[in-house]
Amino acid sequence: MHLRIAIAFAVLALPACAQDKKQLELGRYLVENIGQCASCHTPKNDKGELDKSKWMKGTIMDIQPLGTPPPGWHKTSPDLTPTGKLWTKWGEGALIKYLQTGLGPNGKPAGPPMPMYKYSPEHAEAVLAYLKSLK
Ligand code: HEC
Repeated sequence: MHLRIAIAFAVLALPACAQDKKQLELGRYLVENIGQCASCHTPKNDKGELDKSKWMKGTIMDIQPLGTPPPGWHKTSPDLTPTGKLWTKWGEGALIKYLQTGLGPNGKPAGPPMPMYKYSPEHAEAVLAYLKSLK
């Protein structure tokens, strides 16, 4: 009896699990390859490489335009991992909305140089799933 339940559960859970993995891989691809989010949201080590131990934890960026920066220019980027302030302050709902509209809970876009992304619902969910998987 218990074995039957276990088998039924395993059969049901399998496709969902494969689906989650696919979504996570799409999110990873969108963030790491297309969005290049890490180049701004990850600190660099002494060798000037992205510090994998602080992946997407936010940093003081070493990019700045020549001359006077545009108004609202940010030198720092926030921690995007689930333990970061953004997740507690905004919550998942606001984050998913932000990824689709480029607008925060205050109805405003982020300051430069944060690009304005407008993901499809599917891609926004994938990006969020990837961020959620980070430590
Ligand atoms: C060119 C640098 C750069 C890149 C690339 C970048 N970010 Fe940012 N991001 C920033 C900066 C700077 C801020 C802080 C802006 C602010 O506080 O208004 C920020 C803020 C954010 C915020 C908070 C927005 C807010 O209004 O406070 C989120 C969420 C975010 N980034 C997600 C991402 C994701 C996801 C990607 C990749 C798809 C990404 N960022 C790529 C620089 C960048």
